[in-house]
Amino acid sequence: MINNFIEEKLQKVLDNLKINSEAKVITSNRKDLCDYQFDGAFAQAKVLHRNPFEISEEIANEFNKLYEKEQLFSKVEAVKPGFVNFTLSDKFINQMLEEMAHNEKFNISFPKKETIIIDYGGPNIAKPLHVGHLRSAIVGESIKRILKYFGHNVIGDVHLGDYGLQIGQVIYGLKEQNIPKEKITIELLDEIYPKMSGLCKEDPIVKEECAKITKELQEGNKEYQEYFKIIREISGNDILRIYKYLDVNFDLWYGESDAYPYIPKAKKDLEEKNLLKDSEGAKIVDVSKETDEQELPPFLFEKSNGAYLYGTTDLATIYQRMEDYHPDKILYVTDLRQGMHFKQVFRVCEKLGFTDHTSFEHLGFGTVNGSDGKPYKTRLGTAPKLDELFKETKEAFLSSNPKNNGMDEEDLDILVNAIIKFADLQNNREKDYIFDIKKFSEVVGKTGPYILYTYLRIASILQKEAKKVDTLHETIYNDVDRNLRIKLLELDNTLSYSYTTRLPSILANYLYELCVNLNAFYENNHINNLEDINKKEDWLFLLDLSCKIIKEMLYLLGIRIPKKM
Ligand code: ARG
Repeated sequence: MINNFIEEKLQKVLDNLKINSEAKVITSNRKDLCDYQFDGAFAQAKVLHRNPFEISEEIANEFNKLYEKEQLFSKVEAVKPGFVNFTLSDKFINQMLEEMAHNEKFNISFPKKETIIIDYGGPNIAKPLHVGHLRSAIVGESIKRILKYFGHNVIGDVHLGDYGLQIGQVIYGLKEQNIPKEKITIELLDEIYPKMSGLCKEDPIVKEECAKITKELQEGNKEYQEYFKIIREISGNDILRIYKYLDVNFDLWYGESDAYPYIPKAKKDLEEKNLLKDSEGAKIVDVSKETDEQELPPFLFEKSNGAYLYGTTDLATIYQRMEDYHPDKILYVTDLRQGMHFKQVFRVCEKLGFTDHTSFEHLGFGTVNGSDGKPYKTRLGTAPKLDELFKETKEAFLSSNPKNNGMDEEDLDILVNAIIKFADLQNNREKDYIFDIKKFSEVVGKTGPYILYTYLRIASILQKEAKKVDTLHETIYNDVDRNLRIKLLELDNTLSYSYTTRLPSILANYLYELCVNLNAFYENNHINNLEDINKKEDWLFLLDLSCKIIKEMLYLLGIRIPKKM
């Protein structure tokens, strides 16, 4: 990694000069001035009551004294008011690019291998999936792929919400309408759930009845279990179909119901450790700490009527995961608004000693909004069913690209995926964003189609060239050429950063910038009919490396590539 590489050398310089500062360099966004920059002289100047420029001069001089011979930098200089600027030499840039091209994973450094469970998707059976679940699936799938890329043993679990009140409501509805079990279909479920949930809001007696059914189901009532199995099967298949469309793949299809057998063990542990308290008939765990800035309410383990809750199944699921996988980490990708819930669950884990060997992370995400700033709705004004959303996206793409180059249905579905996913993933997951299908479907701008189009364009140029080039000559020919090379070198740093922060947006934005660089490069530097053989070989090398990178990054974002567009 170039940053690390410079930082190591810089640290030596700082040590020699007895300057007590961390050797952290940042990537410059003014490539005409330098590639990397160090600004530590300012803080030093304050401490030492000295002029920052003088300090930066001392650093630059010492750096040059130590490393000039290696010819890695074309220039290391102090600039006012006190920066140290680093410009890489052509020789060094090319050497690094070659190393990168010859390494299957572009020279990233690997962390210690861990077993990581990632809990994402989280749809609720018998309820239609909504955009929030879409986001969990898209962001979660990308994080999973990034973790795998870094060599971890990663297990994705969909963690179906299959034992909540909605099941009681649907069973109640089915029984009320005398619908025999064999007649249950997905269309029927889609219809019944909203009706029953509406009815429960109006009628407290129905609500209580549904809660009773839910509880009896959880306790093993035979008839309800039979209903449950059918509902889970039908609804589960529909969920699977949607995830298949999205190319989102889970290793485990467990749900809340699968955690029930682990509840007694959790309860026994909590009792033995004296953590379970009675509170108006309910059983709770006090999870607050004196140091908490905001008071954390107690974790609710069991309601006064003996029913279990969302938190109970999450805790029981942790028992199940510990037993089956001994994970080093468990990550949860859900809406940010579940932050408090996970804080409580993680605190209970701390009290039970799980955090001694396993770390827990809640990776929250913001809301998908419409142009009115409110949660996104389709043209029909309802919370969008995902099938409708996919259809609308396809239509939007076709209407802004009427000459879609004869793409077949398969490719159009790939485009729909690219549009939706890239739109989502380019945003920092914690931020809300506005879902603007029209903008997302354009082939210009920061969109999935733009990335795919760039890729296909470069790939087709390469296809016409028979030659495989795997070394570079010494020269860099012009600014756009240099910019592209430097951008390529930023990859490993970008990958590591998106890995440690669990932010696919870092990758998505890099990918966009790389494509912008590539297009600028290509506009200025035409490859076909080039007389200069060295130049041609170098440029083929760069295009080839770029293509490989785009392909891999798209994979990490969960985006497939169409045959043509
Ligand atoms: N089913 C939940 C919901 O719709 C999400 C589940 C997230 N995962 C978890 N382990 N709690 O909000």
